[in-house]
Amino acid sequence: MEGTEYMYELFEALPRCGPGDNESTRRAFNTITKLPKQPFILDIGCGPGVQTVELAKVSNGKILALDNHQPFLDKLMKTAGDEGLADNIIPKNMSMLAMDFDENTFDIIWSEGALYFMGFKNGLKRCRQLLKNGGYLAVTEIVYLVPDPPAPVIQYFEREYPDITDVNDKIGLIRDEGFKLISDFTLPESSWIDSYYLPMEKELSHLNEKYQGNEAALAIFDEMRHEIDFYKKYSDFFGYEFFIMQKIN
Ligand SMILES: C[S@@+](CC[C@H](N)C(=O)[O-])C[C@H]1O[C@@H](n2cnc3c(N)ncnc32)[C@H](O)[C@@H]1O
Repeated sequence: MEGTEYMYELFEALPRCGPGDNESTRRAFNTITKLPKQPFILDIGCGPGVQTVELAKVSNGKILALDNHQPFLDKLMKTAGDEGLADNIIPKNMSMLAMDFDENTFDIIWSEGALYFMGFKNGLKRCRQLLKNGGYLAVTEIVYLVPDPPAPVIQYFEREYPDITDVNDKIGLIRDEGFKLISDFTLPESSWIDSYYLPMEKELSHLNEKYQGNEAALAIFDEMRHEIDFYKKYSDFFGYEFFIMQKIN
């Protein structure tokens, strides 16, 4: 894809690659009960792994951290090493579309802001196969927060993510796909602004200077600027929902 290298340059400079925060990761994890002493966890689309490291801290688990972009995995393992957690995390450079693990393997599957690359429904199906019976799936997914979002929001998501629905529709899908919903909550605005967009704004002004005259690069950065403005204007109408669910037989 044209311009991918500029996208990666931007995202490699950010602490995380999507909205989220450690408190929400812990909150989601704490809704899960009855785990083995050392649960086996798959983190799909782990990116630079802020949530992977937090999970390693709270779970005492062994975490297979999967992403298809090696620099993110390198960044994750650097942090894990600094925190004395490298033995708990196994980096895996693999596409989530080509996961070849045995069925019934994992106690928990985690995915913050990434399962949509498989399509939410398809992602639920695949995770259900890979989870042990009674295993847990925790995932954040973009949703409408109101029944009737304004027209510009609907038009935006028709272009960007036509699979978006409201929370109740997602919960219906979760049940249809053989899971029991344990809990769900909306990520706070601070997990968009403080953890994600503020660092991005800073990096964008640096990159805009660095790439002056490079139209391809500037167009990409402009799109990201537009995404930030759009969120600030319409954040009452859409957001990320954390869904924590359990595989049922
Ligand atoms: C929005 S980021 C979220 C990263 C991280 N979970 C976080 O919250 O910071 C999505 C991640 O999915 C990864 N990704 C995209 N397509 C993928 C694929 N087909 N297989 C594995 N990872 C993929 C990207 O490299 C990126 O790290």
